[in-house]
Amino acid sequence: MRADAARAAKPLNYQEVYNAIAEALDNSDYDDGSYGPVLVRLAWHAAGTYDKNTGTGGSNGATMRFNPESAHGANAGLSVARDLLEPIKKRFPQISYSDLWSLAGVVAIQEMGGPTIPWRPGRKDADTSAACTPDGRLPDASQAHDHLRNIFYRMGFNDQEIVALAGAHALGRCHTDRSGYEGPWTFSPTTFSNSYFKLLLSERWVDKKWSGPKQAVDKATGSLMMLPADLALINDRVFKKHVAEYAKDENKFFADFAAAFKKLEELGVPFPENAPTLTFNRAAA
Ligand code: HEM
Repeated sequence: MRADAARAAKPLNYQEVYNAIAEALDNSDYDDGSYGPVLVRLAWHAAGTYDKNTGTGGSNGATMRFNPESAHGANAGLSVARDLLEPIKKRFPQISYSDLWSLAGVVAIQEMGGPTIPWRPGRKDADTSAACTPDGRLPDASQAHDHLRNIFYRMGFNDQEIVALAGAHALGRCHTDRSGYEGPWTFSPTTFSNSYFKLLLSERWVDKKWSGPKQAVDKATGSLMMLPADLALINDRVFKKHVAEYAKDENKFFADFAAAFKKLEELGVPFPENAPTLTFNRAAA
């Protein structure tokens, strides 16, 4: 057997891929010092196109590599995340883009201090843009609870899962040149925590005075932000109950987030029957 054939035949060690992604996260010149948040957003936008009624969309296929999906407004800026993963794809050519992107979400969450998220390999890449989903399947930040329910119920989530997933906004920030919005949700945007929920409840959120789209800032410092869709979580009685629960109990949030994120990553994926469920050790521990 030739050396390349031998390498190709060797089963992929996913912890090695995990470690390579973990090593690529930190960069003091980028945003708040980590690519972690934008990798979480890539994993979520790849998966969040799922429609349970037609079985279309989801992380299988990695169709965001193709136009028109790469050019959908909701995906603005995600080329940063896709480009970051390209050298890792080259180093581990056996992994599909769709597995790589979804694994990158798990790595980023774990390395930024979040819960362990069990993960299964088995996604296959689409070869053409034919499987791209139509624009409009991801949530619109300018809208409120009815819209959030429509979008997330279409994926098969319930109210508690919607709130748990939104807790990922503890991470990262909005960029005027991507979504048009501006600023981080929390004071520690590279640490996964329940602070998004705490701040939603503890701060007074007032309209930001600017010429950009309608968003809120915290009255006390003016340095944090909430989207209209974030505020919908405290303007709806059922959503708010879950916000309060997660603000009080971070362990509960971590457990519920891990379950909901795993579900998100697996929507519509036709896993091979023998696909093992893997858990990874933190590289940064
Ligand atoms: C509930 C509906 C949601 C809306 C309306 C929404 C909207 C947005 C918007 C407008 C941005 C800013 C993008 C930019 O300008 O760079 C953003 C960023 C982000 N979103 Fe969401 N999102 C939602 C749910 C989620 C979910 C479910 C997750 C993950 C489980 C998530 C993870 C993130 C992360 C980590 C960022 C930061 C990205 C960065 O720093 O580059 N979001 N979201």
